[in-house]
Amino acid sequence: MASYSSITISTLSLLLLLLLVGSSSAQLSTNYYSKTCSNVESTVKSVVQSAISKEKRMGASLLRLFFHDCFVNGCDGSILLDDTSSFTGEKNANPNKNSARGFDVVDNIKTAVEKVCPGVVSCADILAIASRDSVVTLGGPSWNVKLGRRDAKTASQSAANNGIPPPTSSLSNLISKFQGVGLSTKDMVALSGAHTIGQARCTNFRARIYNESNIDNSLAQTRQGNCPKTSGSGDNNLAPLDLQTPTSFDNNYFKNLISNKGLLHSDQQLFNGGSTASTVRSYSSNPSTFNSDFTAAMIKMGDISPLTGSSGEIRKNCRKTN
Ligand code: HEM
Ligand SMILES: *[C@@H]1O[C@H](CO)[C@@H](O)[C@H](O)[C@H]1NC(C)=O
Repeated sequence: MASYSSITISTLSLLLLLLLVGSSSAQLSTNYYSKTCSNVESTVKSVVQSAISKEKRMGASLLRLFFHDCFVNGCDGSILLDDTSSFTGEKNANPNKNSARGFDVVDNIKTAVEKVCPGVVSCADILAIASRDSVVTLGGPSWNVKLGRRDAKTASQSAANNGIPPPTSSLSNLISKFQGVGLSTKDMVALSGAHTIGQARCTNFRARIYNESNIDNSLAQTRQGNCPKTSGSGDNNLAPLDLQTPTSFDNNYFKNLISNKGLLHSDQQLFNGGSTASTVRSYSSNPSTFNSDFTAAMIKMGDISPLTGSSGEIRKNCRKTN
């Protein structure tokens, strides 16, 4: 009897422990600000829409900021911090330098949100909402955004260099980078569909258009026209990741891959005879499957290691700690 109840008690404490450990993402909820800032979503949306109406690419840039935030110590707004004397942040890490953009739009969103509910909404949550609104504004699917993240008090350049996959990645590198943050191979393929919008710089696709054989010949020719072979010249010249509709969130990215028209080496890795080819085919012919897998994966990505409770802070200015 005594041993029976001690087993029960230890089982219960184990369950309790598991609940506590698992609760950091369980604390996020879609109605987190319903009492404290019920207008947060409409406020974010209006700034995002006006930024995209000025420049359609901004939707892509905001979506990418969320990805680069979440992959580096979780979705904690760390990418938004400027460098300080006590830490070198993420803005100048390799994947972000001369590349990550939209910080001024995030500032505008934060200013608008602070006006309606000062000191309540985190910069990390602003990125999560702005990403959803960007996808929707460019014609993609919608989803309910989980909220309640708090903002990091520090940022790490080396964590950004190590956490964000480079465009030279092989399929197995991509799979393991995503697995490292709890995302499946299917999530990885679905999230890569974000490359149906936005632009890339010559330096990131030069080797592919001059040296790779699994690329459509006419795409390679066209891209060579604005991306000189010699490294150092034209490094920042831009080309659309989706050659057809770079400002529409659709499933063309996957159609491109099937005809060897992925712009980045890493893009084409998803359809190069490997294990992800069948998922690419499925998304290319079935936009609703892509949409539902993409939204599910965005929610999962948004759950990566959030700061909750008394961890972190609610930054007043997204560029610096309070
Ligand atoms: C699978 C691994 C990924 C790799 C290797 C990768 C790599 C890149 C690279 C190299 C660029 C161009 C940057 C430049 O040349 O300045 C880019 C752009 C972009 N990426 Fe990714 N990416 C990946 C996954 C993702 C994910 C998961 C998302 C979002 C869910 C995303 C969203 C974007 C967007 C929207 C752009 C265009 C940004 C703009 O026009 O400002 N990427 N990515
Ligand atoms: C193509 O590959 C060759 C041989 O590896 C290398 O020397 C050259 O720099 C590469 N060219 C580009 C544009 O990447």
